[in-house]
Amino acid sequence: MITLKDICVSFRSEKQTSFFGKERTQVLFDVSLYIQRGICLGILGESGSGKSTLGRVICGMLKPDSGKYMLEETAIYSDKNGRKKLQEKLSIVFQDYTTSANPRFRIKDIISEGISVYKRRTGERFNSLAEIVRLLKLVGLDESFMNRFPHQLSGGQLQRVCIARAVACRPEIILFDEAISSLDAHTQVQVMDILYDLKREMNLTYIFITHDLTSVTYLCDEVMFLKNGKVTEHIKVKDLYKTTDPYARKLVHSIIEF
Ligand SMILES: Nc1ncnc2c1ncn2[C@@H]1O[C@H](COP(=O)(O)OP(=O)(O)OP(=O)(O)O)[C@@H](O)[C@H]1O
Ligand SMILES: [Mg+2]
Repeated sequence: MITLKDICVSFRSEKQTSFFGKERTQVLFDVSLYIQRGICLGILGESGSGKSTLGRVICGMLKPDSGKYMLEETAIYSDKNGRKKLQEKLSIVFQDYTTSANPRFRIKDIISEGISVYKRRTGERFNSLAEIVRLLKLVGLDESFMNRFPHQLSGGQLQRVCIARAVACRPEIILFDEAISSLDAHTQVQVMDILYDLKREMNLTYIFITHDLTSVTYLCDEVMFLKNGKVTEHIKVKDLYKTTDPYARKLVHSIIEF
């Protein structure tokens, strides 16, 4: 469904490095990747390895210096309608649910943002209120949450609202960037269970960025390891114990004893 070929990204350094100007620091080096429809791909790597940068390329927020990004038959950064098509098909859930939910909006308004996007795109007409109740139920919240404000919810509840908003526009792909990392272990499992059920019900494709291998083994079918901006391994989760990549092995050994 998604193909990335030799993606390179660099940023301009802050320092004046030579007489001719500022140098660029390369963050992603020839990243290639294929994501099959319906799978959950984990992107794993330590802090600063380039995960979020890759996520921003995949979301259409950051044009790479070079390389090709195809969503089905559309070249995202070179086709005129590339980013629009991507927006229709891909939703994003970020780590920082407290800032990604507008504090002045009630929960129903936050979710109805996603519903409006869907309605505008398809021209379909249906009762938004009933849809909000349905979506809240889908993420394990009852309708009494509808009129509350974000600060009146726990972190786990608010992140579920962000997930409801992400699915409200009926995407085919959802990208999660450290979306459950700041929740406690028990709530993480609850949210992952919700994500697992949602994915099956809506036939979704997930891209799950994290630094936590345990959540990858819980939710993902495949995992790609990123180290210093390079892919070191891309393997099925069930084959993780077979990996010969030193970085992947080190992480795997930290949670599983062979
Ligand atoms: N807009 C930017 N301008 C300059 N440098 C950037 C920019 N965005 C990211 N970087 C740099 O790129 C590198 C990779 O950052 P990135 O956010 O992709 O890492 P990450 O793997 O998501 O880390 P974390 O796990 O801490 O979220 C870092 O060294 C970061 O400082
Ligand atoms: Mg990041």
